[in-house]
Amino acid sequence: MTEHAGKTVFITGGTSGINLGIAKGFAREGANVAVIGRDPDRAANAEAEIKAECTDDGDAMGFSCDVRDYDAVEGALARVAEAYGSIDVLVAGAAGNFYAPLLGMSPNAFRTVVDIDLFGTFNAFRASYPYLTKPGASLIAISAGQADRASAMQAHACAAKAGVNQLTKVCAVEWGPAGVRANIISPGGIADTVGVQFLSKDPTKFDEAINRIPGKRLGTVDEIADAAKFLSSDAARYINGQVIYVDGGLYAGDASTDCLNPPPREK
Ligand code: HXC
Repeated sequence: MTEHAGKTVFITGGTSGINLGIAKGFAREGANVAVIGRDPDRAANAEAEIKAECTDDGDAMGFSCDVRDYDAVEGALARVAEAYGSIDVLVAGAAGNFYAPLLGMSPNAFRTVVDIDLFGTFNAFRASYPYLTKPGASLIAISAGQADRASAMQAHACAAKAGVNQLTKVCAVEWGPAGVRANIISPGGIADTVGVQFLSKDPTKFDEAINRIPGKRLGTVDEIADAAKFLSSDAARYINGQVIYVDGGLYAGDASTDCLNPPPREK
């Protein structure tokens, strides 16, 4: 039995990628895990995959819901709370992205990503409040390095993820007195995800990107799941309003200069 056994975990965008990995991580700990995503087939597949990982008396459900629709998110949370009881862990992970320059981005293109990432996080957090375990609930937003770094071709994601970080910190401030903590995970490049697929199309850029990471490798979805399990555990009970970078050290700095094998000092 782990401390997450019997807890209720709700994950938006949990039908694929990093968020599905987080779902499986909690399922292996005996939690009841609910995931939502836009595509009903993907949601059904995710439910089956997560169920296959369930231990103890844990269970899983996956169903279709668009995080841009506040009423639908509210309904999804009510459905999960009715099935499993109050929500202990909420992971706001739903995100959309594409590469486009500002001049190639229509207002609707910009709005679409901000709607999914930022409004989607607002909708999940705001609608969850009545269903949260108080005290004790843990909210986690999945952000990205774009929140801190102005990245070309990513105006929408940069704006949205910067907003996600601040929104989550405000949650920490406003809901901390009720015993609800809210933190942010900022993943680096994670193997076998859509984000890294974009990068790996160009092998030169890919190798350069890996070389910049102090850890000299991509992360894994299990490493993000471990961070989510830690943040929602009792060991993190006094951590609130923080950004946790799970990126092999990339946010701290660029490791492309080899300082472990320096050339002889010039006279
Ligand atoms: C310019 C584009 C575009 C592109 C879409 N649009 N792709 N503009 N370049 N490559 C424009 C459309 O023309 C339209 O504007 C508007 O965006 C909305 O597009 P739709 O296709 O109608 O929207 P929708 O069906 O809701 O799809 C959302 C989406 C799409 C984000 C645009 O790419 C999607 O569904 N992606 C889901 C999967 C995904 O993105 N996964 C990546 C997550 S990874 P007009 O003006 O024509 O109406 C991730 C991690 C990265 O996010 C971390 C960084 C933050």
